[in-house]
Amino acid sequence: MIEIHDLSYKYPGSKVNALHDINVKLPPEHVFAILGHSGSGKTTLLNCIAQFLRPTIGKVTIDGQNIATIDKKTIHSIVGVVFQKLNLFPHLTVMKNMTLAPINALGIPEKQAQKSAMEMLEKLSIADLAQRYPLQISGGQAQRVAIARALMLQPRYMLLDEPTSALDSQTTSDFAEWLTELQEETCFIIVTHDLPFAQQVASHGIFLQDGVMKTEGNIQEIIDQQTASV
Ligand SMILES: Nc1ncnc2c1ncn2[C@@H]1O[C@H](COP(=O)(O)OP(=O)(O)OP(=O)(O)O)[C@@H](O)[C@H]1O
Ligand SMILES: [Mg+2]
Repeated sequence: MIEIHDLSYKYPGSKVNALHDINVKLPPEHVFAILGHSGSGKTTLLNCIAQFLRPTIGKVTIDGQNIATIDKKTIHSIVGVVFQKLNLFPHLTVMKNMTLAPINALGIPEKQAQKSAMEMLEKLSIADLAQRYPLQISGGQAQRVAIARALMLQPRYMLLDEPTSALDSQTTSDFAEWLTELQEETCFIIVTHDLPFAQQVASHGIFLQDGVMKTEGNIQEIIDQQTASV
């Protein structure tokens, strides 16, 4: 289980905290949503969980261990991240994007990495894209490739920052179904301002406002509170 303890974060040179005293447990059996308006601190929190930012105060633990004490190579095979900007390598085919980290970071032989990449792409119904370059696929397909690439390292937790931002409503609901299938093996923590999508995929979550955790708990309750307060 990921636990966030008394976490505050202030960007260097900034006068105000981007996050104030966040305390929350992310149970591994749920899809968990981090909700909030633009600028509320969602991406900052995700970066603190994934260790791209070191909390100014407080800590993040995984199964009781301070995540800051886990070495950088290991951490991203436990916690995978797909950023708002997908960061696919434009000069590499989908297949090469998928196999780069397993070959280089985990030392998996190329043939084996290609075989599991193909299985993953088939599972996501995008096997026909394997030899294309990122500029030759649609935004929604790129989203799936980025997630498939992160899943290649078989992380226990997967952090997704605004996964539906490039998707239309049909692709968003396909994606929601797909997430529901994948959550048996991987625990998803999803940053989104898309409340209907959150409602479809997540059972629990938090709502951030100006870096403060306003509400925590059942996703429906959070959404009802937000709707009531607008
Ligand atoms: N590198 C940075 N340096 C200084 N301040 C930053 C930096 N990145 C973000 N911030 C500030 O921290 C606050 C939280 O930003 P964050 O990116 O976490 O918001 P967000 O909830 O992810 O927003 P969005 O929905 O627009 O992606 C904002 O006020 C933002 O301006
Ligand atoms: Mg963000």
